[in-house]
Amino acid sequence: MSKPYVISFANQKGGVGKTTSCVNVASCAAEKGLRVLLIDSDPQGNSTSGVGISKKSIGKTIYDVLLDGASPEEVIIKTEFENLSVVPSTLNLAGAEFELFDTEQREKRLKNFIDKCSDFDLVVIDCPPSLSMLTINALTASDSVIIPMQCEYYAMEGLTQLMFTIRKVKELYNKSLSVLGILITMYNGRLNLSTAVLAEIKKYYADKIFKTTIPRSVKLSEAPGFGKPINFHEKYSKAADSYREVTEEMLSRIGIVV
Ligand SMILES: Nc1ncnc2c1ncn2[C@@H]1O[C@H](COP(=O)(O)OP(=O)(O)O)[C@@H](O)[C@H]1O
Ligand SMILES: [Mg+2]
Repeated sequence: MSKPYVISFANQKGGVGKTTSCVNVASCAAEKGLRVLLIDSDPQGNSTSGVGISKKSIGKTIYDVLLDGASPEEVIIKTEFENLSVVPSTLNLAGAEFELFDTEQREKRLKNFIDKCSDFDLVVIDCPPSLSMLTINALTASDSVIIPMQCEYYAMEGLTQLMFTIRKVKELYNKSLSVLGILITMYNGRLNLSTAVLAEIKKYYADKIFKTTIPRSVKLSEAPGFGKPINFHEKYSKAADSYREVTEEMLSRIGIVV
């Protein structure tokens, strides 16, 4: 059995579209027939509920993976969407940071788990809004990173800091880590600020920015309330198509042909 390709969705800023992008890219890849595992590594658990898993039905979680070495069989839940499974998260993950502090190989916990997940083609990890041990675990376990970004003030500052962290993780724990791309979310090309910030990002990272940008869309923000990814909530919308397109771009950058 071959190993899955592993991607983190990371940005230490909150509210930039990490969870929305992670859930919807995972679902669009599953729609194409890839066997996808979505790992929720944010204590807020938004990607868990975003794929229709209710808190009540959750047993062991990513917390048990990181702290107790729980196995794939114990934590992976099949969603109602074909080809899409999830490792859920709940609020107790917030304590993991502190509890991991004293453990051996604390940055490799997630990697060790994913090494046992051979039934998947693609693993996507939704990171918390911090450059904490959870994010470091995700980056250590990943082949590459997608950075969701909103074209707002201070976007560049955060990006510089994140690139520094990625370089550090690469140096210390994961030589083969790379940045797969920067994904512009909630984009409105009619706003001067958006176009100005995008031009600024392009100056430094032109080759990294995905051609597809994700438009601002009410449908994207309401879909989690129905526990559905956008390609199920509004199958034929512009928002769904934008996530399908970015998924295509992503797969072609990785070299996965479906
Ligand atoms: N393209 C979009 N259009 C409209 N709302 C969006 C879009 N992307 C994300 N949102 C909303 O913005 C908020 C933050 O997005 P989220 O994906 O949770 O960010 P993060 O995971 O980085 O904190 C959420 O309420 C989400 O529904
Ligand atoms: Mg999130």
